[in-house]
Amino acid sequence: MAIDLSALPTAIAKTVKDLEKKYEFETLNLKGGNGYALVGRNRLLNRKVVVKFYYWGGGAHAEPKNLSSLASPHVLRVEDAASIDQDYAYFVTPFCERGDLDDLLEHEKIGIVQAVDYLQQIASGVSFIHGAGYIHRDLKPSNIFCDANSKLVIGDFGSVVKIGDQGYTETNSTHSIIYRTPEEIFTSRAYTQGDVYQLGIILYQLLGGRLSYDLLDWLSSKQRAECDLLDHPDNELYADGVVKNLIQKGRVVDLNSLPAWCPRSLVSIIRTCTKIDRANRFESVSALKAKLSNVRGSLPDWRLEPGPVLYRNKNKLRLIKVGSLYHVEKMAKNSESWRRVHSVQPAPITDIVALAERL
Ligand SMILES: Nc1ncnc2c1ncn2[C@@H]1O[C@H](COP(=O)(O)OP(=O)(O)OP(=O)(O)O)[C@@H](O)[C@H]1O
Ligand SMILES: [Mg+2]
Repeated sequence: MAIDLSALPTAIAKTVKDLEKKYEFETLNLKGGNGYALVGRNRLLNRKVVVKFYYWGGGAHAEPKNLSSLASPHVLRVEDAASIDQDYAYFVTPFCERGDLDDLLEHEKIGIVQAVDYLQQIASGVSFIHGAGYIHRDLKPSNIFCDANSKLVIGDFGSVVKIGDQGYTETNSTHSIIYRTPEEIFTSRAYTQGDVYQLGIILYQLLGGRLSYDLLDWLSSKQRAECDLLDHPDNELYADGVVKNLIQKGRVVDLNSLPAWCPRSLVSIIRTCTKIDRANRFESVSALKAKLSNVRGSLPDWRLEPGPVLYRNKNKLRLIKVGSLYHVEKMAKNSESWRRVHSVQPAPITDIVALAERL
């Protein structure tokens, strides 16, 4: 079935027509804020692929041909890449049937240790990208995919830039506003520590932190009323301005929205990653990875089934809500029944988490 290319810039539509010799396109996804993604099938190999068209500004972003050389277990393989003209380029990657990290966040209940393991995988991919001399700049759940082996891989390179000689790269292009780093807003410069910042936001989301993708949710009721009076695109620019302001004040991440069982050590890692001043963040992704490895062994193993359950060597404990308070139940390793732990009085969630961890 032919797809409607009328919404695409002419140069891209023409390239799609050329690429149709090789790929049979099924879907055009216009959702992306930073390009156009087409899902298709390689006619010869009968494999599903994604062709992502992105703005590369004749060198403002990474050279398409260089992307194909990025090969790491946590970076999605680039099968092909080319520039179209001075503005646009494209790259082709396998289609990931298991979806992106947003799907995972929506459908999977992610426990504490699992969250750290997921972040370690993403960070490994980022570390590799930095080692190859690039900054990713657009790390967010819709750009991270679950591959056929259930491993997380970074799979969108539409905002990647080469690390400049001074350690930063001047950029003009915009990408997802909520994940944009304070330094890119303040100075239009991208640094590797910007990727550390975005990894911090992803860890926050993996652990259950609240982050709305709807810009209007970030507006106060007064701002919402002001915004409602504006026409398009002024209303979007207004909302963008509000969010930029929150980013500059370091208020994108609300650590209070993390669940009570989120360990302090991880809250502290998120705080360090997302510092407004990049000099106060982890110096590198390797330093972040080392810190995560250090704390992993001593993390309380809270999982969501769907309520919080603490796994321990000899037993597991679950928290049961009764009215506004919680009590603790225990299940011995080889048992199948839960028993109330009467030594622990019902308590609010933060207290009961601490009490359960001490049992
Ligand atoms: N290789 C892939 N496998 C599976 N789904 C993909 C793949 N590449 C992109 N997608 C999905 O297609 C959708 C659109 O991707 P696209 O990159 O255009 O938008 P985005 O990630 O939301 O924004 P941005 O343009 O800022 O990256 C996303 O939901 C993404 O998860
Ligand atoms: Mg994307």
